[in-house]
Amino acid sequence: MDKHTIVGVLGAGSMGSGIAQIAATEGHQVVLVDLNNQVLNKSKAKLESILTRLEEKGKLNAAEVIGRIKFSENISDFFECGIVIEAIVENLEVKQHVFEELENIVSDTCILASNTSSLSIASIASACQNPEKVIGIHFFNPAPLMPLVEIIPAVQTSEKTKELSRKLIDDWKKVTVLAKDTPGFIVNRVARPFYGEALRIYEEGIADFATIDWAMTELGGFRMGPFTLMDYIGNDVNYTVTETVFAAFYYDPRYKPSFTQKRHSEAGWYGRKSGRGYYNYAEGVEMPQPTKDEILGKQILDRILMMLINEAVDALFLNIATKEDIDLAMTKGVNYPKGLLAWADEIGLKNVLTKLESMFNEYGEDRYRPSPLLRRMVRDGKKFF
Ligand SMILES: NC(=O)c1ccc[n+]([C@@H]2O[C@H](COP(=O)([O-])OP(=O)(O)OC[C@H]3O[C@@H](n4cnc5c(N)ncnc54)[C@H](O)[C@@H]3O)[C@@H](O)[C@H]2O)c1
Repeated sequence: MDKHTIVGVLGAGSMGSGIAQIAATEGHQVVLVDLNNQVLNKSKAKLESILTRLEEKGKLNAAEVIGRIKFSENISDFFECGIVIEAIVENLEVKQHVFEELENIVSDTCILASNTSSLSIASIASACQNPEKVIGIHFFNPAPLMPLVEIIPAVQTSEKTKELSRKLIDDWKKVTVLAKDTPGFIVNRVARPFYGEALRIYEEGIADFATIDWAMTELGGFRMGPFTLMDYIGNDVNYTVTETVFAAFYYDPRYKPSFTQKRHSEAGWYGRKSGRGYYNYAEGVEMPQPTKDEILGKQILDRILMMLINEAVDALFLNIATKEDIDLAMTKGVNYPKGLLAWADEIGLKNVLTKLESMFNEYGEDRYRPSPLLRRMVRDGKKFF
């Protein structure tokens, strides 16, 4: 696939618009389809404003880029596309139905990709007569700004579909990583403890939201603390992802959702979008101050970080991705200050294991079990890099 490939994008919401912007900026003709005309108009207005700002910075010619996008309500307009990337509602039945329909519109060689965050690519592909042309291409929000894209071949996906898709997204100057078709792929799996362990620390009464956020940003170097980030994502959205991942892992206690987050969500305290979440964003309300106790802060950071590292090691243990891709995914997809496996090497794998074992012994919960790969590497005196 080259610049002459026409790119189809289905769904003109936040993700679809962003993906269309990337493809058009890279010189492709783009067909952007949404059922809803109002959404299309909104998407067009938003893209015009973003592209005009980029033109002012001398980065591109806005009229030229927008001129390459055809906004349409008609899915049949995809007939000449070399690839269609679907970014509609996160519902398996709807996606399956749409993939079945798409296959009858496009040519035999067209790749059909889904931007799903949590559904299995195998189940989406199963709706098609030629499932070898179906693949997961998972962008992060906002798509034009976040460098990472996870490429997820299903068991049915052909080698050719995988190679062509990855090459195209690499040509769009994105950082691609290859992930197995398992719940949460890389990022949404490995990142679970960033939220879950922070909530647990709060529930145990060890520290308040502001102190946990302070420990993770000031001492850990993370760009945002977990509670600030959950308020930004929305507690409703973040809670649903956690619940979905938990169920998809056959209720592995490591991914157990938290009542604190559930109650915040039930109360309508979604975060920034509703004016209140873990913090109150109403005008004139002062933000709570953290307790800047370095010893406490270090304990908080250590506990969350060990759980994140354990998750990254376990993803490697189960061949979800290569060690390089696991570290790239977390630094380029969610801006972690370091790759978790490289960070583990720096801390010392023996130290990581000792801390995890001490939590496992104290709590007696499966949630804290160290990954077998960590034990094996400590026993053999190995490092990741
Ligand atoms: N928002 C994120 O942070 C994010 C990140 C990565 C992946 N995703 C995934 O991307 C997909 C889209 O997410 P979003 O946040 O952009 O959603 P969104 O709600 O902003 O947009 C979805 C759009 O799809 C349209 N749509 C629904 N059914 C359709 C159909 N049958 N045909 C054509 N259009 C249809 C809707 O009108 C809507 O405009 C989901 O699968 C989601 O899981 C979202």
